[in-house]
Amino acid sequence: MAEPNNQSPNGVRTVVVPAAGMGTRFLPATKTVPKELLPVVDTPGIELIAEEASRLGATRLAIITAPNKDGILQHFAEFPDLVETLSQRGKDEQVAKVRKAAELISPVAVVQDKPLGLGHAVGLAEEALDDDETAFAVMLPDDLVMPTGVMEKMAEVRAELGGSVLCAFDVPREEVFNYGVFDVEEIDTQASDLPAGLVKRVTGMVEKPEPEDAPSTFVAVGRYLLDRAIFDALDRIEPGKGGEIQLTDAIELLIREGHPVHIVVHEGIRHDLGNPGGYIPANVDFGLHHPKYGKSLYRSIKKIMDEYESENGL
Ligand code: G1P
Repeated sequence: MAEPNNQSPNGVRTVVVPAAGMGTRFLPATKTVPKELLPVVDTPGIELIAEEASRLGATRLAIITAPNKDGILQHFAEFPDLVETLSQRGKDEQVAKVRKAAELISPVAVVQDKPLGLGHAVGLAEEALDDDETAFAVMLPDDLVMPTGVMEKMAEVRAELGGSVLCAFDVPREEVFNYGVFDVEEIDTQASDLPAGLVKRVTGMVEKPEPEDAPSTFVAVGRYLLDRAIFDALDRIEPGKGGEIQLTDAIELLIREGHPVHIVVHEGIRHDLGNPGGYIPANVDFGLHHPKYGKSLYRSIKKIMDEYESENGL
């Protein structure tokens, strides 16, 4: 049984958000705007992550940033002048929107000087944790995992089985080369209310294998609940795929040393905000479900689709 972190309902006080990437797939927008501040409808991706972290019960967002990306932290500031101006004009709804990020969670910046990999970024977060934090979460801001709530299920699994718990999707085999891929074995567990078969023991993990070499089609998407032991493992691994320090390799090392690692297979959808091809559908999805814009957006999209279909003989 894992010891819960005191005072956090799901045992998670800190959520680590690696956000030091250059956002090259969004140039030219990312010359001046960090990728994590690009909006999904009207809310930056980083604030969606902060909402998810806050719902989980976390109180600290450890944002791993690059030296020139301090705008991400500014998003969590108080903006008293803006609040005052909006209040004087009676714009209460907008005041709430301005205040929300700061109310959700306390951000802490950790600067990653060089892009040495996801594992390196996560390793830097150790300085942001309290000494008594036995576990922490990692949420990759490129990945919107829906419906939300998977981290809560992962916390239940850790409470029962200990160790580290990761979120997995089952993807078509030809797509596995984009991900960390799990070797798994079935277990019999009472963890949480999850249907049987959705919690599996991980017996190995490999970063971005060729489809024919992949041990399964269960892949890591950006939600991790990691035991603090990961920091020691990250210190001991060599650069891996792409010459980077890979989080996958540190998890694989922990597994080899007998540390329990499990996955929760999430049967929902995932939006990939890391490139325009995934970011645009995320905006369409959130936009269609938005109380203010949904109906008219539906009509506009339908018209665009009809025109596209007749242009292309579809
Ligand atoms: C990272 C991880 C990979 C994981 C993926 C999920 O890769 O290294 O194991 O499956 O995130 O989005 P990246 O997408 O940063 O290349």
